[in-house]
Amino acid sequence: MQRLHNKTCLVTGAGAGIGYATVEAFIAEGANVIAIDRTPVGLADLASRHSGLKTHVVDVTDAGAVKALIGGLDRLDVLFNCAGMVTTGDLLTCTPEDWTRTFDLNVTAIFHMCRHAVALMIKSGGGSIVNMGSVISSIGAAPDRLAYGASKAAVIGLSKSIALDYAAENVRCNVICPSAVETPSMAARIEAMDDPVAARRAFESRQPIGRMAFTGEIAEMAVYLASDLSGCVTGSTMIMDGGAKL
Ligand SMILES: NC(=O)c1ccc[n+]([C@@H]2O[C@H](COP(=O)([O-])OP(=O)(O)OC[C@H]3O[C@@H](n4cnc5c(N)ncnc54)[C@H](O)[C@@H]3O)[C@@H](O)[C@H]2O)c1
Repeated sequence: MQRLHNKTCLVTGAGAGIGYATVEAFIAEGANVIAIDRTPVGLADLASRHSGLKTHVVDVTDAGAVKALIGGLDRLDVLFNCAGMVTTGDLLTCTPEDWTRTFDLNVTAIFHMCRHAVALMIKSGGGSIVNMGSVISSIGAAPDRLAYGASKAAVIGLSKSIALDYAAENVRCNVICPSAVETPSMAARIEAMDDPVAARRAFESRQPIGRMAFTGEIAEMAVYLASDLSGCVTGSTMIMDGGAKL
């Protein structure tokens, strides 16, 4: 039996990396997927591979567009808030603009998505929200990631509140917390560094298993949290970090 048979699942940040891999994993498990990204290229690529896929070019930081998007749906079983960004900087170098930009996407967009989604999920008889966090959060810090770490800590707090407030309505909410994941944006960040070979080695060696996570591994966690197999899991921070924070 497919684990997401006939479930309507919305994925943000679907055009690349973890979101892209999760769209494919959800489809393989029988879901009807709605893929969202602010840029059309990755969505077009996904649509060319999966005929039933619905795609929408939406910037999730646009609260009005998010309201219209979810307001146009008949039902929603699963929401995976994957869109997010990394910003560098410590307390003295993180500008107020960086701080606001990071929170707008990593936190406030999730707030708006969840508000509208929860209302629809309650009408649909319940649902599962999966939010993208990080081990750089309330779990631990990393150098030069002030706004990023604070924003991902906020994702954990927001998710726990949602989990508690809507458990009785059969709406679950969990957070996936990876360390480093092999994605195109991660590869681009490494390539932009002075010594990309040493930078890659440093990322890999931070995880005792000696490598970064693969997008398919994160997608599999998202499938589990989206599915009824995780029916007793809510308010959890699911760490997948190769032992980085041991
Ligand atoms: N890659 C990692 O090492 C890693 C580690 C921990 C957590 N994460 C988190 O996982 C998530 C995905 O990371 P990734 O590396 O796959 O990202 P990515 O940069 O490869 O892809 C992100 C996608 O989100 C889209 N996006 C960005 N802003 C958007 C917006 N405002 N509206 C709609 N779509 C938007 C981009 O166009 C892109 O397609 C992020 O929340 C990130 O913080 C990533």
